[in-house]
Amino acid sequence: MTRANPSANVRVRAVSWDAGREPLSNLRRGVFVEEQKVPEELEWDGEDANCLHFLAEAGDEPVGTARLTPDGQVGRMAVLPGWRGQGIGRALMGAILEAARERGHAALYLNAQVHAEAFYAAFGFVAEGGVFDDAGIPHRRMTRTLD
Ligand code: COA
Repeated sequence: MTRANPSANVRVRAVSWDAGREPLSNLRRGVFVEEQKVPEELEWDGEDANCLHFLAEAGDEPVGTARLTPDGQVGRMAVLPGWRGQGIGRALMGAILEAARERGHAALYLNAQVHAEAFYAAFGFVAEGGVFDDAGIPHRRMTRTLD
């Protein structure tokens, strides 16, 4: 694996599915389908055209993504393996929270893979209910309100 450069200038921008489809789908195929073995038919759930997407780029290189559904669900949060632990997930979440406030959402929710619960908790999401299976991966629902 190529080791990412921690000092690289990473920027996050909001994009439509039409505008960002190629880098967004490449990132998700790599992380969810290939790395995490999520079945293709679950990954491509038909919701993407309705969502606002977020693309993190280091220079011209796509390195991370996430999406926000019209009803306030955060999802498909993925950072390339060599770029994890360098604040890119944090930058994506910051962009999501800003966009969600602009869109007038009073609250957000997500289905966290249990290994990522602490990541989301760091951004004010609180777990509710028990653990459930989705695509063979244990998940837990989490919510947070927006000011
Ligand atoms: N568990 C607990 N804390 C975590 C974490 C994890 N898996 N990943 C990151 N954090 C913490 C970091 O320590 C950091 O806290 P700090 O600023 O106090 O040090 C904070 O969360 C932000 O970390 P950051 O470097 O911005 O996260 P990242 O760029 O590595 O992205 C994921 C985090 C979860 C998006 C990334 O690990 C990933 O893509 N994983 C594979 C796909 C996945 O599982 N997505 C989640 C689907 S629900």
